[in-house]
Amino acid sequence: MNSLHYQKNKLFFDQLDLEELSKGITTPFYLYSENLIKQNIKEYISQSNDKTLFCYSVKANSNLSILKLIASQGMGFDVVSMGELYRVIKAGCDTKKVVYSGVGKTRAEIRYALENNILCFNVESEGELFVINDEASAMGTTANISIRVNPDVAVESHPYISTGLKDNKFGITYKNALSLYIKASKLSSLNIIGIDFHIGSQITSIQPFIDSIKSIRSLVSDLKKENINITHIDVGGGLGISYDGEDIVGKADYIKEITDSLRDLNVNILFEPGRSVIGDCGLLVTQIQYIKESKTKNFMIVDASMSELIRPPLYNAFHKITPILKRDKGHKKYDIVGPVCESADFLGKERSMNSEVYDLLVIEDVGAYGFVLSSNYNTRPKPSEYIISNGSIREIRSADTLDQILTNELK
Ligand code: LLP
Repeated sequence: MNSLHYQKNKLFFDQLDLEELSKGITTPFYLYSENLIKQNIKEYISQSNDKTLFCYSVKANSNLSILKLIASQGMGFDVVSMGELYRVIKAGCDTKKVVYSGVGKTRAEIRYALENNILCFNVESEGELFVINDEASAMGTTANISIRVNPDVAVESHPYISTGLKDNKFGITYKNALSLYIKASKLSSLNIIGIDFHIGSQITSIQPFIDSIKSIRSLVSDLKKENINITHIDVGGGLGISYDGEDIVGKADYIKEITDSLRDLNVNILFEPGRSVIGDCGLLVTQIQYIKESKTKNFMIVDASMSELIRPPLYNAFHKITPILKRDKGHKKYDIVGPVCESADFLGKERSMNSEVYDLLVIEDVGAYGFVLSSNYNTRPKPSEYIISNGSIREIRSADTLDQILTNELK
């Protein structure tokens, strides 16, 4: 969807001329579109009802302005750390719409979440169940919980981002789920409210979700027999976006199919979308510094790198790379690489390009898992972030200064 298009030879994003917009901004920088984020959310909300709650997965993009914007559109949040919950609170959002996932919640994190009255813990192990009960009891309160069940559904995605199989670290195996629910029902400071699953990320079709729901439905009826009645099913996140023309089930269809398949159970349905809310709403703008050509290989060396965007080396992820100024001359194949001292530091390989030194390029569809995975590797400042809002741009995070990078270090 990302709305990029040329007018004559100039690239526009959300109606703004990117060359004009970039004047005076130090590259590389992230640029998001409020309109596009709102459109994505609208597609989700259009198929929802009073039994649906969307909990945006904060890990996808956790900038405070973005969280505030997403909350203003009616979404809650899925968090996986004290830090993410802290962000949600700082952004002024409602903690009663927060679910807390993650395999390694510490006691301190659990206490913090209890103090802040979150909606539900998605429990990922037996040990965690007892720790949550313990902490809630010590605080004289009760904790709402779901157990994250692993439906053991194969998902065609990168192995690093598929999570629903029985041999990965997430959730409880389907086989053990019922007995763990029974144990949970005997713990006096726990209040069982749901079942949760999350099978992976960048999923393109509806089938794996429907397959998972089949096994979850039979767990619901097993639980009923034990007198354990849940009020919600959390189907996780995972809906993909089209990075390279892939066919992806539409958001409205995805919501409708899942809601239809659970309607007779009369439970609330929670969704934890991340990438599909913001992935196609963000660009990374970078400038070519050098062009290095030889008989065997051509490189465009740009000022963005794996420090700002690690998805290409980490997952072999494809992101389109598009020049802001379209030139008419012959194209050649280039690897687009950054200045970091690693051979893995590439943003794209074998791309057909004809840009010149100091031209600007955009790396597309980096709204999710872009900035959040950036680092200060090679003592590179994390870049600034901007958002287009009501036809003009606003800075929502300034780039690190070198002193900020060093600030916690002692000589
Ligand atoms: N819920 C849970 C429990 C999750 O672990 C995740 C993502 C989500 C929701 C949101 O999934 P989404 O709707 O964004 O697919 N860094 C990787 C993606 C890792 C996803 C981790 N979990 C990437 O850049 O592709």
